Amino acid sequence: MSSIQRDIIVREVGLRDGLQIHPTFMPTADKLTWIQNEFQAGVGEIEVTSFVPPKLIPQFADATEVCQGALKHKDLVVSALIPNLKGAQRGIELGVRKLNYVVSVSKTHNLKNVRRERDASMQDFKAIVDLIKTLPQTQRPLIGAGLSTALGCSYEGKIAVTEVVLCAEQLLDAGADEIVVCDTVGYADPAQTRAVLKAVLAVAGRVPVAAHFHDTRGTGLANVTAALDCGIQYFDASLGGLGGCPFAPGASGNIVMEDLCFMLDAMGLKTGVNLDALLSTREAMSKSLSDLKLYGQLAKAGLPNGFVSTYQAQAA
Ligand code: COA
Ligand code: ZN
Repeated sequence: MSSIQRDIIVREVGLRDGLQIHPTFMPTADKLTWIQNEFQAGVGEIEVTSFVPPKLIPQFADATEVCQGALKHKDLVVSALIPNLKGAQRGIELGVRKLNYVVSVSKTHNLKNVRRERDASMQDFKAIVDLIKTLPQTQRPLIGAGLSTALGCSYEGKIAVTEVVLCAEQLLDAGADEIVVCDTVGYADPAQTRAVLKAVLAVAGRVPVAAHFHDTRGTGLANVTAALDCGIQYFDASLGGLGGCPFAPGASGNIVMEDLCFMLDAMGLKTGVNLDALLSTREAMSKSLSDLKLYGQLAKAGLPNGFVSTYQAQAA
């Protein structure tokens, strides 16, 4: 798997972003089958769970078992969301490769989501980085910093680019290994995406910047092409377009992993993903919960007649 060439890194977030608003518990074994299938389809990074209090989101009561199962896939980058220091401690104990911290640019959303002021979240991030630095080099997880509501907020509406940059700078100064610009509620358009990403890239230096779009208003893949124009190489997406924040009114699904991989592949960009295997992964996952509503055009329409994917060309 590690020999796979990738121009673009797609990261599955459905097991976290998708399931966090889903009221029915997906059996742990089904989560692990989903992870295994999607990893075998060529997705190299999967956010497998969220280290939040199980009382708050019971869907993640099996976070330990899911991480332990996912970590058996040696070349898979196993990541998990953390909202605070306690979440980081849980992830470190399990040996998770990457911790995805979340802070909202919108001060109101931050308060609703993690019950503290944005500045307090920034302080907590510093404490997490300090904790990681106490570990031996080989045991240190990467620490990603997600800027939630960076492209709009259902409480505050428009978010100023200067605020996004300010938050990015604080997280970079504290030691973030990656900045993820998130359109949590699907407000973004391609022009805005360009403006915000360029501003963040300008301060990020060598630290990778990723994009996390929701397709709430049908602009998700258009925003991806705007991000590609800016040079972004890391994209979050979810199988079947599951997704949404429980603490952001009106939030809905992430961009659809299958459609994203098809579009990138058709553009000649290597994702390392076998589209047929990805569609089979979706099919298997859809059987797990009968009340899961899946989205996505590729699954409906199928691959174009005569389509030769870059994956097949690479394998040939
Ligand atoms: N994992 C497990 N338990 C945790 C925890 C974590 N990451 N963080 C806190 N707790 C426990 C505490 O130990 C405490 O337990 P106790 O009642 O048995 O003593 C309890 O939860 C309350 O702790 P507190 O620090 O007061 O948390 P809080 O109630 O202020 O909630 C967050 C703060 C950050 C934990 C919570 O708001 C949260 O998880 N938010 C994330 C929401 C989310 O997932 N949004 C979508 C993704 S962006
Ligand atoms: Zn999201």
